Amino acid sequence: DTGGHAHFLLKEIHEQPTSVERTLSGRVDERFSTAHLGGLNMDAREARAFTRVKILGCGSAYYSGELGAQLIEELARIPAHAEPASEFRYRNPVIEADTLYIAVSQSGETYDTLAAVQEIKRKGGRVLGVVNTVGSAIARECDGGMYLHAGPEISVASTKAFTSTSIAFALIALHLGRVRDLSPADGRRICAGLKAIPDQIREILAQEKEIAELAGKYADHPGMMFVGRVRGWPVAREGAQKLKEVSYVHAEAYPASELKHGPLALIGPDLPTVAVVPDDELLEKNLTTLGEIRARRGPVLMVGHTRPDPKLAEDAILVPRNEPELDPILLGIPLQLFAYYAAVALERDVDKPRNLAKSVTVE
Ligand code: BG6
Repeated sequence: DTGGHAHFLLKEIHEQPTSVERTLSGRVDERFSTAHLGGLNMDAREARAFTRVKILGCGSAYYSGELGAQLIEELARIPAHAEPASEFRYRNPVIEADTLYIAVSQSGETYDTLAAVQEIKRKGGRVLGVVNTVGSAIARECDGGMYLHAGPEISVASTKAFTSTSIAFALIALHLGRVRDLSPADGRRICAGLKAIPDQIREILAQEKEIAELAGKYADHPGMMFVGRVRGWPVAREGAQKLKEVSYVHAEAYPASELKHGPLALIGPDLPTVAVVPDDELLEKNLTTLGEIRARRGPVLMVGHTRPDPKLAEDAILVPRNEPELDPILLGIPLQLFAYYAAVALERDVDKPRNLAKSVTVE
């Protein structure tokens, strides 16, 4: 039942204020400005001992892991990286005792991710799961973790699970940060930021009509470029993934800083760019990149917090500001609606894109 929406994808996009509330529920510990995560099965001494975090998942789960790695590095100052579980399991990975491994999966049944978890465990590594489906294979295999409580996700393309996974990583990062060097004041700032996210998602969803118009305008281009720098980069990757999955429009994601090292050769009137531009210390750098794209007459749609000079971006989607570390979570939401309405404009099979399955349980 799509609950009055045209597709499950749209229903799930609209469920996000409440699915995020469920992911947060009972986990924001305002007394100690930290996150309460009993399921990690890890005491403070253990949580302090890890020197590295490695995050594994496939597809959107992997991209949310990239966002998560950034949050963990920023808030807990532990070197953190994400890698596709499908690559990791095929390359005889070195498993380190002082690395915390985190497996991400909406379904909990993705075979590549499960195989990665089994390989880590076989070699004696510690793995946490960030999983939506209670009692799933990956959840059972892990040493502990967090359930998203996002509710069932039916549409093949992930939206609410992606967002809830990012929220889960913010909680894990806050928790790891507060047993290390994240100050109580910064912990309070992140707690307040997390609690503001559901209403801020509501504000973004209220712009649905404008985003649908923009998607219709851009959907008839043969391809699109998505760029972001540092905090914006995982958002750009997931935005491109969403567009290609559901609309079949070719979408490339590049770090904004890499454009001049190759892909700038592609930029011109036929290849629009979606630029993810958080209002952080890299804002000026990002605006310079927009200037470089416009100088080649590339159309620009900016997703950010402040309306840009129309010379730099002819179109913009603005989202409310939260804390700089959490802003990427909000910047991703309009790109889900953008992909959805591009797919609708092109009359695609939105909930069941060709060649894709919701969970790939085979090798
Ligand atoms: C893919 C799905 O095959 O699996 C994606 O098409 C999904 O939408 C990916 O992100 C990972 O799935 P899961 O269930 O492990 O998060």
